[in-house]
Amino acid sequence: MTAVASSDSAATSQAEVTAEIEAIAASYAAADRAETQPRLDYPPYRSSLLRHPTKALQQADPEGVELWSPVFGERDVDPREADLTIQHTGEPIGERMVVTGRVVDGDGRPVRNQLVEIWQANAAGRYIHQRDQHPAPLDPHFTGMGRCLTDADGGYRFTTIKPGPYPWRNHRNAWRPAHIHFSLFGTELTQRLVTQMYFPGDPLFALDPIYQSIVDPAARSRLVASYDHDLTEPEWCTGYRWDIVLTGAHRTLMETDTEVAG
Ligand SMILES: [Fe+2]
Repeated sequence: MTAVASSDSAATSQAEVTAEIEAIAASYAAADRAETQPRLDYPPYRSSLLRHPTKALQQADPEGVELWSPVFGERDVDPREADLTIQHTGEPIGERMVVTGRVVDGDGRPVRNQLVEIWQANAAGRYIHQRDQHPAPLDPHFTGMGRCLTDADGGYRFTTIKPGPYPWRNHRNAWRPAHIHFSLFGTELTQRLVTQMYFPGDPLFALDPIYQSIVDPAARSRLVASYDHDLTEPEWCTGYRWDIVLTGAHRTLMETDTEVAG
């Protein structure tokens, strides 16, 4: 019987995981082929080993209703839901920031009235989630969830707090790069996209098995937002820009595992 690593792989060191990441990266570079989606079977991502599919998915014809675009009435999404800093009676702690961009299809056409949902840790790297009990403070003024609809140009915009990096138990001393989780629906209900947006220059990129499970460097770099000083507002907030391409060769990568704690 083949030994399968426990999902609690705390005995493995970062150095061992980093060595595995580097070995896979080297074999990918030597293979000289384009592989732009996250690997389902990516051993450095210990906690996915028992969760990822091991067989081809069963193909099923979608029901007719599943091929309709989701309809999100204007009444359902309040514009204030796009501001994660005003959901409570006081100001959350941390770096106030704006993140904005366009959702486009593979031909660069705007995807309008798209529901964009985000969730994230607070500035201290803590989620409001029963499985996140690490000793960083919760912020009573920050829940970490927001949503909006894209406008006529496919644009979305959130005001939030820059999330902190946080530890997870993939291996000993494992830390996720700061990120914001995004969910979008495509032109039909079968096209939900769940992914993560990262911040430029994060020192944890090379160490993170989730980020590195996209073995193509150019492909994974498309998950990194750009700092945009024109979006930064004096005395108020910093600004980041991140565009999302739903289809085509430059599409934003799909995350097949949508667990919040990841
Ligand atoms: Fe996360």
